[in-house]
Amino acid sequence: MNHLAIIGGTGLTRLDSVQVTGKQFIQTKFGNTSAALVSGTLAGSKILFLPRHGDPHAIPPHKVNYRANIQALKDAGVNRIISINAVGGITEQMGPCVIVLPDQIIDYTWGREHTYSSGDTDSVNHIDFTEPYSDSLRKLVVQAAASISQPLISRATYGATQGPRLETTAEIRRMEQDGCDIVGMTGMPEAALAKELGMDYASISLVVNWAAGKSNEEITMEIIQKNLDIGMSKIKKLLEQIVSSTETA
Ligand code: HPA
Repeated sequence: MNHLAIIGGTGLTRLDSVQVTGKQFIQTKFGNTSAALVSGTLAGSKILFLPRHGDPHAIPPHKVNYRANIQALKDAGVNRIISINAVGGITEQMGPCVIVLPDQIIDYTWGREHTYSSGDTDSVNHIDFTEPYSDSLRKLVVQAAASISQPLISRATYGATQGPRLETTAEIRRMEQDGCDIVGMTGMPEAALAKELGMDYASISLVVNWAAGKSNEEITMEIIQKNLDIGMSKIKKLLEQIVSSTETA
């Protein structure tokens, strides 16, 4: 049986369609989770839900306690995580409101607690991170999207930046040369921590703006909010389809 958790990002602090059965504040040896862990039922399946930025949304990307969040999910018996991330679009196909399933990551973040191997144990865990995202979970999302005719780009490279500021034009130019298709602030170290704890992890990324220098329009919170509203309603439907097509415990 699978125990599935959804980590909500910007624009997904609450999942209204979840019938909530419990809420628990969790303390781990790495500190507190971003918010209470919500347990409930979505489309008839049991899930856990955790809003990454807290509820209400107040924790910036570089201050999220990624280690506590992932450890708490592991301790709750979760073995599959679907992470929702708002991103900027860099390459041509990655326009606003497009849903993207990244298959690779480049990490530009710094100074974050990014590993459970912090030097206080006997061994160091050098995880194989060749494939940062779970192939089986990605396939499940692709199939669920196809079954509700939800267009989705099934491969992309996610560039993780430190934030909370957006990037400069030159930074995005460099990221494009590096091979990044989308840019966000929360993809790392979350993906690596999930891998360290042996959990399947996939990201559903929603493009909410063209990245810096990729359009003539100024990047405003109004534009981002408008695209979040449009895109998150699609993502909520997709999540319902995903959980109803997977066996959960
Ligand atoms: N850059 C980084 N993170 C983001 C962006 C962006 O343009 N949009 C949403 N999250």
